[in-house]
Amino acid sequence: MVKKIDPCTLVLFGASGNLSRVKLMPGLFRLDAAGRLPEHMAILSVGRSEVSRDVWLADIKGMLDAKFKNGYDQKVFERFIARNHYFANASDDPDAYKKMSATLSDAKTFPQNFAYFLSVRPTDFAPVVEQLSEVGLLDESQYWRRVLIEKPFGTDLASAQDLQARLTKHLKESQIYRIDHYLGKSAVQGIMLTRFANAIFEPLWNKEHIDHVQITNNETLGVGERTTFYDATGALRDMFQSHLLQTLALTAMEKPKDLSPDSIRAEKIKLLQSIRPIDVNNLNKQAFRAQYAAGRVCVGDGHGENVAGYLEELKRDGIESSITETYAAVKLFIDNPRWQGVPFYVRTAKRMHEGNVAISVKFKKSPMQLVDNQHQNWLVISIQPKETVKLEIESKIPGLDIATRTLSIDAPQRQAGDESIDSYETLMLNLMEGDPSQYLHISEVEAQWKLVDPIVKAWAADKTPLHQYRAGNRDPEESSVIFETSDQFWRYSIELGGDKH
Ligand code: BG6
Repeated sequence: MVKKIDPCTLVLFGASGNLSRVKLMPGLFRLDAAGRLPEHMAILSVGRSEVSRDVWLADIKGMLDAKFKNGYDQKVFERFIARNHYFANASDDPDAYKKMSATLSDAKTFPQNFAYFLSVRPTDFAPVVEQLSEVGLLDESQYWRRVLIEKPFGTDLASAQDLQARLTKHLKESQIYRIDHYLGKSAVQGIMLTRFANAIFEPLWNKEHIDHVQITNNETLGVGERTTFYDATGALRDMFQSHLLQTLALTAMEKPKDLSPDSIRAEKIKLLQSIRPIDVNNLNKQAFRAQYAAGRVCVGDGHGENVAGYLEELKRDGIESSITETYAAVKLFIDNPRWQGVPFYVRTAKRMHEGNVAISVKFKKSPMQLVDNQHQNWLVISIQPKETVKLEIESKIPGLDIATRTLSIDAPQRQAGDESIDSYETLMLNLMEGDPSQYLHISEVEAQWKLVDPIVKAWAADKTPLHQYRAGNRDPEESSVIFETSDQFWRYSIELGGDKH
């Protein structure tokens, strides 16, 4: 269903940064090409450097040329370019925001509903909002005003609450759009639909039938150029705190009353609040951390590449030692009637043997055991790189004897010709539509930090050097310490056989 969007202006802070160049500008162009931007819609890019509109438009052309190597529609290009404007927001100009307000007051060029996309340093989120408010640019008496906050929303519970307090001096909750780009992924949105649009899953989706659930994000990438950021952050805060807990919430929440933003978020909040707090005195049995050492990973075209270890990469950038995790695995329990006693193993790692994001649900043993070690059913919802749902079942081997083998029923969600949409495109559209269902409510952010903070604190206090795993290998053996029973182990691939040791 195509929702109507009011005439509006998207004000893009941090417009010359990498996110904007690689994702946001090309994404807006594609929305325009798909006919999803309203006719009266302008984009005001805000950056530090003093450049003319013409220079900026030429820069945008460069971004599009780099992204769409096979070319693009000239008519759409002209329409898109005509929407674009530039405002130089000099940091040493005390009147910069007054000038921005004067620029935006030209209602013919800039429709007066404003969506601000803050792709800036986290320390700038609150100051930008304060200054917008001071010059009246957040006033909703006639038009809507929305602010999108990039991640991370705080670095722990206290800083998230502090940021929230500063923002809500000037904004209502309904004006704040906190991003988690995983929620813009089509396959992540599909989790809810797979669960609730199919009558066969709901009766099985509980402690009676499910042995355990694995939520996985593995990457073959290392930390790259982001050593300083990553070393101050770690896998728990970078990936687990939001992307993985949101994926868990969509996997485990109760059915929302309807698909309205409030109903979906209410169920996610309830779920996140019912995750049992981690017992830090028993942390070694519930969480495992490690760092990648040098090794060999498989790159894009399938060949191997030797890569440095995390500590070596840090040294190269002047950081001498580190106990920051690049691998984190945590066991969680959800204290509600549906999930009592079912472990959720959530893991994320850089430099693994393969990159994948998936939810793997292992069902309990079937009542009829024909052979020892009979395979238990798995349902695998793969988010990326494949968007697919797989159900592994036992099936008779044709022939004279009674014997079974495991087969996989595969339902690739992506069919030839389906649109391929980047998560930021969906999320920018939702922002302009005024649909916050794929954005985080402050209660979700708080519940996530409450869960993560004690682990981060305990790990920071424990200075023991971290376990090292070879880049390009599967999960370190030692991580299995978090499993509840000896017959549980990591699923290392979504493919058939990917649950074998
Ligand atoms: C980001 C993290 O939020 O998500 C990165 O900061 C990570 O470290 C990235 O690589 C993964 O996103 P995606 O969409 O590539 O799975």
